[in-house]
Amino acid sequence: MKQIEWNNNILYLLDQRKLPAETAILECKNHHDVCMAIKTLAVRGAPLIGVAAAMGLVLSSIANEFETAEELRNYVESAEKELRSTRPTAVNLMWALDRMLTAIDKPGYLTAESLRKLILEEAMAIWEEDCELCRLMGINGAAVIPDNANIITHCNTGSLAASGDGTALSVIRQAHRDGKKIHVFVDETRPLLQGARLTAWELSKDGIPYTLITDNMAAHVMKEKKIDLAITGADRIAANGDSANKIGTYGLAVIAKAHNVPFYIAAPYSTIDLGIKSGKEIVIEQRDPDEVRFFGSRQTAPENCNVYNPAFDVTPAELIRAIITDRGIIEQPFATNLKQTLCGV
Ligand code: MRU
Repeated sequence: MKQIEWNNNILYLLDQRKLPAETAILECKNHHDVCMAIKTLAVRGAPLIGVAAAMGLVLSSIANEFETAEELRNYVESAEKELRSTRPTAVNLMWALDRMLTAIDKPGYLTAESLRKLILEEAMAIWEEDCELCRLMGINGAAVIPDNANIITHCNTGSLAASGDGTALSVIRQAHRDGKKIHVFVDETRPLLQGARLTAWELSKDGIPYTLITDNMAAHVMKEKKIDLAITGADRIAANGDSANKIGTYGLAVIAKAHNVPFYIAAPYSTIDLGIKSGKEIVIEQRDPDEVRFFGSRQTAPENCNVYNPAFDVTPAELIRAIITDRGIIEQPFATNLKQTLCGV
């Protein structure tokens, strides 16, 4: 089973909450199921939640025997609002939904049937494009990975986070495919262990050598000169290059700077939000305190103790060596070069 599949009007998702111990499949039969899957992180990772949300709209378009295009459009638009509210930080979710709304507003689709077909086509186009963006990021980014490199990464940025090979993990995969001898240090990524549960699982399957470390070991490993470069994904990149990613990424970038280790971000163009000037405008998702009070199902802190649980942090642009995208490697100054790459001006 792939991370996401569409068959007979059902969206099948690999339930990432259960990995790596169990390979369970989640069936989404309507957009409410997709909302729940996104909120609970059964499906996760910036590009993949965008694709899942687009498919959620497809499910909403087949939820009823709509008699008119107007009736169908109204229902899909209400589903769109629900899907948009599931998670606030990763802009790929909003990007995919905006693209779906633009398609739905196209003139000329006057019957429910024609509009339904258009919605499916647009969602599939987003899905296919996401696969291609992963491939291009891999090809572009592999150039920054030297032979014999020791790489450190955070969270999960692979096939479980996107529809193709992933973002940062696509770059790592491509370097491995190119025959480079690489080794990856994987941060376990507290509190939900996306590094330990998901990245380590993906690297094992690919036969890419790796070592799992807890997040608080990264500085020590860098001091021992075991790291040549750090690479992570991003959930939203502001116009000045400030990049939101899984909590702990900022800390990793700070210690990379302290040890003279280049820190790269890999993200598709759909993660770049030129609508916000800096990271200050990025809404950081706050999650359930029990994610911190428990380690898996085991309680590791006093019941109801005070907890702060931001799911993401923002790495300031000045700590980032370059942003690897499907459109090439973007270097400093990001404020000029991101705009130039996306808009050609
Ligand atoms: O909360 P998650 O697991 O959805 O967070 C995912 C990340 O932070 C990834 O690093 C990010 O989406 C970028 S790579 C696809």
